[in-house]
Amino acid sequence: MATSVPAPAGPVPFKDVENNLDLQATTVPAERSLEEHDDAMLLVSALPIKLAAGTKLKLRCYEGFWLPERFVPAAVAMQRRLVPRPDDVVIASLPKCGTTWLNALAFATMARRSYPPAGADHPLLRLNPHECVPFLDALLAEAGGEARLAALPSPRLMYTHMPHAMLPRGSKKVVYVCREPKDTAVSLWQFRRSAHPEIPFGDTFDSVCDGGSTYGPFWDHVLGYWRASLECPDRVLFLRYEELLRDPGENVRRLARFVGAPFSEAEEEAGVVRGIVELCSLGSLRNMEVNRTGLMDGLGFPRKALFRKGVAGDWANHMTPEMARRMDEVVADKFRDTGITFQ
Ligand code: A3P
Repeated sequence: MATSVPAPAGPVPFKDVENNLDLQATTVPAERSLEEHDDAMLLVSALPIKLAAGTKLKLRCYEGFWLPERFVPAAVAMQRRLVPRPDDVVIASLPKCGTTWLNALAFATMARRSYPPAGADHPLLRLNPHECVPFLDALLAEAGGEARLAALPSPRLMYTHMPHAMLPRGSKKVVYVCREPKDTAVSLWQFRRSAHPEIPFGDTFDSVCDGGSTYGPFWDHVLGYWRASLECPDRVLFLRYEELLRDPGENVRRLARFVGAPFSEAEEEAGVVRGIVELCSLGSLRNMEVNRTGLMDGLGFPRKALFRKGVAGDWANHMTPEMARRMDEVVADKFRDTGITFQ
């Protein structure tokens, strides 16, 4: 009698699944009809538009947030069609808040039984973290994206920059990472400079302060997840980049407990947490060939631009005291009485 081979338990590297994907054989969920596609296009063209500071990236204001124009259909798909699985885990963040790092840590933590962190064939040694964890915003904006997502074994690990209100209704496990806004603004500017070296910092800075930077206003983005984490701490885990820097091991443990896969005593004794932290450290990821060369799939920027200084407080090297004061005032004003501070 033939024994059935069990399907591999997720998360598995998205890139590997994509490479082996036979869409004909996949159970394809309802995709956008042509009519829906036309509706989405009509909706997008009616939204307020502007360019992201110093770039050619078109942003549209959808439900109060400045989303990249080409990702607006993904927001619509998430809200209207995507049916989450009960064990899905979604990483959420604003750009430049430590998404790549958290993707790597979450993947290494959740997949540790299939891929021990010290293993010579660990996927993070040959794939960029964003190739292991699919980016919902880009994927769901493309035809066939939902089918590619459906091909992933459970539990699925995915990431998004969308605000909380745009996540699929019924998402059960969301891990958000936020970062001190002045450092985020500097990181965003440095990242953009990897493609446009001439961009002045002032334009990016102004757009962040005014609430018009990509996926902004940043305060509404952060507050959406913050409030959800207070209301439903079992559903939304709220992390901070600075805390990850201070104590990555303890945050990896929190993450593991949150997704229902706490480290056993035997794992602790065997140094599994330390192994994950080391594998995903900036020094380790930055030095991997896959992260030093090439461009991000579909997004077109150099992979190495994802790994820069990785510290807290770099803003002081780029902002005048007036700029820092202005940003701090925005933060004090927008986060007053919310319980969030960035000190
Ligand atoms: P800096 O530009 O301040 O160095 P994102 O992944 O959301 O785009 O965030 C990028 C920021 O995270 C960059 O910050 C980058 O250097 C930092 N980063 C990337 N990988 C990291 C890691 N393994 N550890 C710490 N910081 C990391």
